[in-house]
Amino acid sequence: MSELTGHLIDGFGRVVTDLRVSLIDKCNLRCTYCMPAEGLPWLRPNELLTDEEMVRLVRVAVGLGVRTIRLTGGEPLVRASVPELIARLTALSPRPELSATTNGLLLARQAKALARAGLDRVNVSLDTLRPDRFAALTRRDRHHDVVAGLRAAADAGLTPVKVNSVLMRGVNDDEAVALLSWCLERGYQLRFIEQMPLDPQHGWDRAEMVTADEILAALRAEYELAADPTRGSAPAEVFRVLAGPGLPAGTTARVGVIASVTRPFCASCDRMRLTADGQLRNCLFAREESDLRTPLRSGASDQQLAERMMAAIAGKRAGHGIGEPDFVQPARPMSAIGG
Ligand code: 5AD
Ligand code: SF4
Repeated sequence: MSELTGHLIDGFGRVVTDLRVSLIDKCNLRCTYCMPAEGLPWLRPNELLTDEEMVRLVRVAVGLGVRTIRLTGGEPLVRASVPELIARLTALSPRPELSATTNGLLLARQAKALARAGLDRVNVSLDTLRPDRFAALTRRDRHHDVVAGLRAAADAGLTPVKVNSVLMRGVNDDEAVALLSWCLERGYQLRFIEQMPLDPQHGWDRAEMVTADEILAALRAEYELAADPTRGSAPAEVFRVLAGPGLPAGTTARVGVIASVTRPFCASCDRMRLTADGQLRNCLFAREESDLRTPLRSGASDQQLAERMMAAIAGKRAGHGIGEPDFVQPARPMSAIGG
């Protein structure tokens, strides 16, 4: 490939170095806050990018300065070709850092193969430690598989293993301390994520959301936490855990809180998203997408694809605007965008 000219820089001077790629919109769970029981109208096979097409777009993005790639979904591990895709993405030059956000169901079976293919680490979503709650929340009785998947990820060296939890009022908001203690005992890095207005049912209600402040207050009742200023562009506010339940004696650990709603980090955002059907989104909450699949399938050159990416990023808005009176939830739900 010839050298591409240009960078992914927006009108506010932010530079994109992180790309989230949704491999597939399907999922093997049905989390109530994400999908209806019957699922969603899935993308048709010819709408999905092929591996070849995905690798090409990522290669162009890497040529424009992207250095970290996160595979998302739906559930990314549902895509049968993930190991091959990982191998091809980690063969790009310069080699991007590659991680995946997964619900963990398939990790017990796949962690070793994924690590061997080149995956660096995983974030596993787990909102509750109680199997009955898990079954109600995800509509599948698979808590055990996630726990086994986490262990397999750690054993395979997909570390640091991170756990993502969304707390919801009246559902699992009593589990902040239990989740942290459980993760500390096992050496997993827990991050709480504020629930965002991305559900297909449009049922999100700010007043109902469990805020970062509430989560921190609950944790501080049991834990000694110290702010860790090494945040950079990472969305998580990280705290060092100095003492408390589950912390192995003589060690410190970290816990993160991603306050996308109450403390937005848009000003230091360095990411963009590619959907499984080849649409580039400059924000999780963007209302417009830039179609890369059509030019890709009609013979565009790498430089032409690069120009389209740069134009899409140039138009990135200053912030997501949740809470502003004219905020409109994006038309696509989270599972079709990729977390
Ligand atoms: N707000 C915040 N996080 C969400 N996730 C799914 N929907 C939402 C939402 N509306 C989380 C999942 C998983 C990751 C992919 O995104 O729990 O951790
Ligand atoms: Fe699947 Fe993640 Fe949505 Fe749950 S939140 S249904 S695991 S895509």
